[in-house]
Amino acid sequence: MRPAHRTHAALPRGAAAPATAGEGAAAGTGPAGVDPFAARVARAVDPARLQARQRGLAAHGGVATGGVARQALTEEELAARRWLAQDFAVRPGYRIGIDAAANVHLRREGADPSLAPVLTGSHVDTQPLGGWLDGAFGVVAGLEVFAALDAAGARTRRPIDVVMWTNEEGSRFAPGLMGSASYAEPARLAQFLPVADAAGVRFETARDAAVADLNEAARREGWAWMDTPLAAPVHAYIEAHIEQGPVLEALGLQVGCVTAIQGVRWFRVVIAGRSAHAGTTPLAARDDAQAKAVHMAHALLSHAETCGDERLRLTIGRWQCSPGSINTVADQVAFTVDARHPEAAALDTVQALMERCLPAGGRIELLQDKPTVHFDAGLVALARQACAGLGLSHHDMLSGAFHDAMPMAAFCPTAMLFAPSIGGVSHHPAEDTQIDDLAACTRALAWCLAELAGPA
Ligand code: GLV
Ligand code: MN
Ligand code: MN
Repeated sequence: MRPAHRTHAALPRGAAAPATAGEGAAAGTGPAGVDPFAARVARAVDPARLQARQRGLAAHGGVATGGVARQALTEEELAARRWLAQDFAVRPGYRIGIDAAANVHLRREGADPSLAPVLTGSHVDTQPLGGWLDGAFGVVAGLEVFAALDAAGARTRRPIDVVMWTNEEGSRFAPGLMGSASYAEPARLAQFLPVADAAGVRFETARDAAVADLNEAARREGWAWMDTPLAAPVHAYIEAHIEQGPVLEALGLQVGCVTAIQGVRWFRVVIAGRSAHAGTTPLAARDDAQAKAVHMAHALLSHAETCGDERLRLTIGRWQCSPGSINTVADQVAFTVDARHPEAAALDTVQALMERCLPAGGRIELLQDKPTVHFDAGLVALARQACAGLGLSHHDMLSGAFHDAMPMAAFCPTAMLFAPSIGGVSHHPAEDTQIDDLAACTRALAWCLAELAGPA
């Protein structure tokens, strides 16, 4: 296995190389700057087929009252992965594999098997109750590009892989991005294996079950198999995703060309006290973990509200109290803090405030610390060219959410394309995007993948 940092020595950053041989180069880019091969593949994207697959995926873990409950490596997620794979894994020219982090790789072969693949994809795990598009769209968009390539009878020089990354959300096993982080940096996997979910199931156990499940499906269905080592060389990674925020809708634009992802730190704060009777114990005689935690949380939220920096995001998303009885003073409270900002100094300020406000005997665990990531300038330029070539209105932007593209950006040339989110809503059952916007983003993705993989 070649170390990740050497994998792309031949491909300087800022210069993710579109293919230059074959149909595209022979025909050249015409006076309008349109690459005929990429344009042909992009035109073959079918909004109805895209929507049908997106809807079919939402049925896996779909909740009758709205939303999708399909957390990482649950039965629902494994069934969704098999369902997505089955249409393509039976076709000639496709192969499937699963790596040591349980990332599923579905490959459309290229004419030159010695070349590193172009990767796309995202995640199909959701929040405990999430929407139908977060992550799911990026995988379905990649599969729609496969369908478009097949419909157009297009052969590429490089292979193209659609990857379903494991545990992007981090809501079942913390932190998030376990699959893509392990792919980009295999040494990370050992840290993730012992992590347990709320029911005590280890990530390692869930990972083993997912690997066995896909192996068994492939054997049963006769899918062509491939070995998929972590950190295998990748030519470029480009991920489509819904924006999950309000920017594109407010500007009335179809596609976001993502230049960077803002930094994020996750903390778990644990505060100890002593349980006591709620009716008999005077306030002055208590060591109330709940009261101390509320004071600390209040200080953090007040900072976020009054510091005057509208780019700061601070969320206390989980709160656990023991023994959790209405008439007993709490002996332990644990809560999480999700802090985000494009500049590390703002996150340092939040962290310093947390340390200052931490009550005696408490502790702060840093669950993840991801600095702001800047995407590959050459790939972002290609995303813009794709939008221009397809006549799509577009805009350079920063991602507020983290994505699998974050760890991948340290491994290979990486960029993202965003589709607008209606009302900016995400991590909520009401999450939605107009089908025309999903199709537009998928066309831009198809263009980029066709350029990067090149005509055979
Ligand atoms: C990903 O879901 C994030 O929290 O940014
Ligand atoms: Mn996502
Ligand atoms: Mn998410």
